[in-house]
Amino acid sequence: MDIKSTIKLNNGVEMPVLGLGTWESSPMDVGNAILWALEAGYRHIDTAAIYGNEKEIGEAIKKSGVNRKDIFITTKLWNSDHDNPIRAYNESLKRLQVDYVDLYLMHWPVEKIRNNTWKYMEKLYKQGKCKAIGVSNFTIRHLKELFQHTKIMPAVNQVEFSPYLFQKELLEFCNEKEIALEAYSPLTRAKKLNDPKLAAIAKKYSKTPAQILIRWVLQHNMIVIPKSINKERIKENANVFDFNIEEYDMKKLDLFNENFRVCWNPDEIL
Ligand SMILES: NC(=O)c1ccc[n+]([C@@H]2O[C@H](COP(=O)([O-])OP(=O)(O)OC[C@H]3O[C@@H](n4cnc5c(N)ncnc54)[C@H](OP(=O)(O)O)[C@@H]3O)[C@@H](O)[C@H]2O)c1
Repeated sequence: MDIKSTIKLNNGVEMPVLGLGTWESSPMDVGNAILWALEAGYRHIDTAAIYGNEKEIGEAIKKSGVNRKDIFITTKLWNSDHDNPIRAYNESLKRLQVDYVDLYLMHWPVEKIRNNTWKYMEKLYKQGKCKAIGVSNFTIRHLKELFQHTKIMPAVNQVEFSPYLFQKELLEFCNEKEIALEAYSPLTRAKKLNDPKLAAIAKKYSKTPAQILIRWVLQHNMIVIPKSINKERIKENANVFDFNIEEYDMKKLDLFNENFRVCWNPDEIL
């Protein structure tokens, strides 16, 4: 496994296992973050209409000189845009200055309307407007319900995931259904990086706590998108391919689970 490694999605599309997150990367900061990430070898960027930085991300990609087709771009349909997903998608494309995105996600399973919205996303996919479609913040209950309305299965489910929120059942369910699970807030938004249990494992491998958290996700065969706007930390977060967490320590990390969330709990959405 290296920084260029991919996971094959259920429609054959190859998705790089490591991407750069950009939530709360301000329009002022995000451009440099993208340039540094591409320089460090990242080829996958995660954004969303609601992050308000698609335009600057598009500009930075152009400036980088890296071929657009060599970069995997994810963006997301925001909750207030379920009334017209096609329009929202086209507006994202315009801001990103690209003619397709690799992965279009429904950002949240908005009550009552999500299954109908999915039909529009299927339409975008069938028309070849995006390479893959998926969901985010879907629990097993939301997925089971969606399956009753789907012609095309989601390729990806992007959810909060870390050793402190080890969603084992959801991971097993998605594996069984061939939906790739993607971990957001893998660094717990830096809230657990000083945990002594984690520091002890990091010390053993001569790695940082952040690198252990990222590597743990990768060894669960998932996709991971740590966010940083700092050049050194962007490089640090990608420097996770030269070591292996032993099974014994993977099991130890699995036991860190305390259902700790830094984002909203989607289980509260009916
Ligand atoms: N689908 C959804 O609903 C959803 C929700 C949340 C997040 N996401 C996606 O997932 C991405 C990642 O999640 P996140 O941004 O919530 O949190 P995260 O990646 O867990 O943590 C980001 C925080 O950690 C800091 N950090 C980064 N690398 C570090 C390192 N090596 N050492 C110490 N601190 C470090 C960052 O600060 P600096 O920037 O200063 O380095 C930032 O404060 C988001 O950016 C977004 O793309 C999606």
